[in-house]
Amino acid sequence: MGRRVWKPGNMLYPLPAVLISVADRAGNANLFTVAWTGTVCSDPPMVSISVRPERYSYHMIEETGEFVVNLTTKSLVYATDYCGVRSGRDTDKWREMKLTPLKGEHVQAPMVAESPVNLECRVMQRLELGTHTMFLAKVLAVHVDERYLDAGGSLHLHDAGLLVYSHGRYFGIGKELGTFGYSVRNRSGGKGPVSSRRTAGGKEPLSSKRTAGNKGTVSNKKRYDRKKTTGKRRR
Ligand SMILES: Cc1cc2nc3c(=O)[nH]c(=O)nc-3n(C[C@H](O)[C@H](O)[C@H](O)COP(=O)(O)O)c2cc1C
Repeated sequence: MGRRVWKPGNMLYPLPAVLISVADRAGNANLFTVAWTGTVCSDPPMVSISVRPERYSYHMIEETGEFVVNLTTKSLVYATDYCGVRSGRDTDKWREMKLTPLKGEHVQAPMVAESPVNLECRVMQRLELGTHTMFLAKVLAVHVDERYLDAGGSLHLHDAGLLVYSHGRYFGIGKELGTFGYSVRNRSGGKGPVSSRRTAGGKEPLSSKRTAGNKGTVSNKKRYDRKKTTGKRRR
C-alpha cells in the first residue's frame, strides 16, 4: 500500500476540546468550544486558544483580555458539542446545558462548575494568523474539583473521564499505557533503559494502582523534570 499526499490542512489529532467561558465588560457571560488550544509555556504557565473573529465570544475576549479554559469530560460531551454549534448571540448556552457558573478569583468570566479543572487566563499577546486569531494567555489560577484529590492532596485527573476530540469525533481516554518517562526508568528506580522491557510491541503498561504516593501524570512529569533523567530539559 502506498501513502497519499494531501493538500496542506489541519490533521494534528487528538486534541482536547475545551469549553471556553468568557464575559463582556458588562458581565454578560458566554461559553463556546475550542479544540485549537494548547499548552505553550511552563513558566510562566501559558496556554493558547485560536478563535475565529466571527465567533460571538471573540469580542468578549478582545474587550476584557480574559477567559477561562474549562476541561471537558465524558459527561460534558453533549454540552461540549452543543456549545460548539450554537451561538451565544441567540442562545443562553449556560441555561440550555444546565451548566453552573462559578465565580473565579482573577477574571470576570465565570468558570464551569461541572468541569474538573478550570484555568483562569489573561491574554498576553494576540496573533492574527489568518482565519483564526491566536490568543496567548497566562494562567492566573488553576481550580481543581476536590473530588479528584486524595487525602494527600494529589490529583487523580484521569478519574474525571477526560474528553478527546479527534478528526471530527469525540472520544474518552483509553487505557493507561505508561507514565511520563517510564521508558527510561526501571523498577528499582534506576535511570537506564531496561532492555527486557523494550519489547517490539512495547506492551508493558505500568500499573495504574492508586496508592497514597501515586501523584498522577502531572506529578510524574514534575518529578521527572526535577530528576532530569535524560540530562536535558525537555520542554
Ligand atoms: C469540537 C469543536 C471544536 C471547535 N473548535 C473551535 C476553535 O478552536 N476555534 C473556534 O474559533 N471555533 C471552534 N469551534 C466552533 C465554535 O465553538 C462555534 O462556532 C461556537 O458556536 C461559537 O460560539 P459563540 O458564537 O457563542 O461564540 C469548535 C466547535 C466544535 C464543535
